[in-house]
Amino acid sequence: MPKLSDPLVIKNMELKNRIVMPPMANDFSGPEGEVNDRHLEHYRRRAEAEVALMIVEHSYVTPEGKLSARQLGIYDDSLVSGLSILAEAIRGAGAKSTIQLTHAGASTTDEICGCQPVGPSDVAVPGRGAIPRPLGIDEIKDLTRAHREGARRAKEAGFDSIEIHGAHGFLLNQFVSPYTNRRTDQYGGTTGNRLRLTLEVIAAVREEVGPGYPLFYRFGASDFMEGGLAIDEARLIAPMLTEAGIDVLDVSGGLCGSRPKEFAGVPGFFVPLAQSIKEVVDVPVIAVGGIVEAAFANSVIEEGKADLVAVGRALLKNPDWARQALQELKGNA
Ligand SMILES: Cc1cc2nc3c(=O)[nH]c(=O)nc-3n(C[C@H](O)[C@H](O)[C@H](O)COP(=O)(O)O)c2cc1C
Repeated sequence: MPKLSDPLVIKNMELKNRIVMPPMANDFSGPEGEVNDRHLEHYRRRAEAEVALMIVEHSYVTPEGKLSARQLGIYDDSLVSGLSILAEAIRGAGAKSTIQLTHAGASTTDEICGCQPVGPSDVAVPGRGAIPRPLGIDEIKDLTRAHREGARRAKEAGFDSIEIHGAHGFLLNQFVSPYTNRRTDQYGGTTGNRLRLTLEVIAAVREEVGPGYPLFYRFGASDFMEGGLAIDEARLIAPMLTEAGIDVLDVSGGLCGSRPKEFAGVPGFFVPLAQSIKEVVDVPVIAVGGIVEAAFANSVIEEGKADLVAVGRALLKNPDWARQALQELKGNA
């Protein structure tokens, strides 16, 4: 079995080890969602210290899908030059880059997005936003185009790969979840219907970026909510995602946020989800959630539970986490 320090090749992208920084919103941008020096410093600092892959925080693909006032944006061509400086900063520091494309759907508010938030049905995401306006079929097609345009900008900016956000109660998760999706047309009901928008987005993005470009999906593999998506159905969905063109499944969960309260302080809280998904797909899987100790991170890889580990808050707290973890494991070898 491989170790945390071993490289991994994903299509045309070679990762120097198995440590990933997961997407974490910084809310550093100005009102237009542009990149600034704080982003450059934040990502460069961690990329220099041996993180193999930096997944840049969720970036909104249309103004209606904006979640927070200072969120990073990828909704307009004018943002590409700033994004390209960020991609270059990460490359120059020796890491590979991904950027996460997102639409908040019903999880935003009218003050932030400047419109009535939209969603699959008139059901609010618990604890977030209000009751959304259900999307019409033409609008759903526009969302696919918006993700595709976001992907084009990400590739033009020089990111090595892209991640589509399908977790944490944002738009694609809202469509997949039976809790928030109560539609009776071709976008609701059966598993295939609830997944339809996601598969259309993946197909459009794949067509845009071409076959050799790595495409990640942040998969909310359980809503941890009564009436929501559960792991058994997620195991049926995962192969459908990879058949549609996803190269890496970044497994997370939680309809009401990325860190459900019941898991506070639990080391590796979403590792079992990742392991369960890994059993049903042939592509690399990322595990996340409360990973703090180097030996634990290494055990996730060595025991074959996942192919990559994402270390979030520990890297926010200690930018040298990856370098120190690799040194510690070398010392113990
Ligand atoms: C400040 C903060 C911002 C986050 N922003 C995002 C985001 O933009 N996209 C996303 O998919 N997850 C986001 N997350 C979730 C993290 O990617 C990660 O899954 C979560 O923090 C659990 O990992 P950890 O226990 O190592 O921190 C965020 C988490 C934090 C703490």
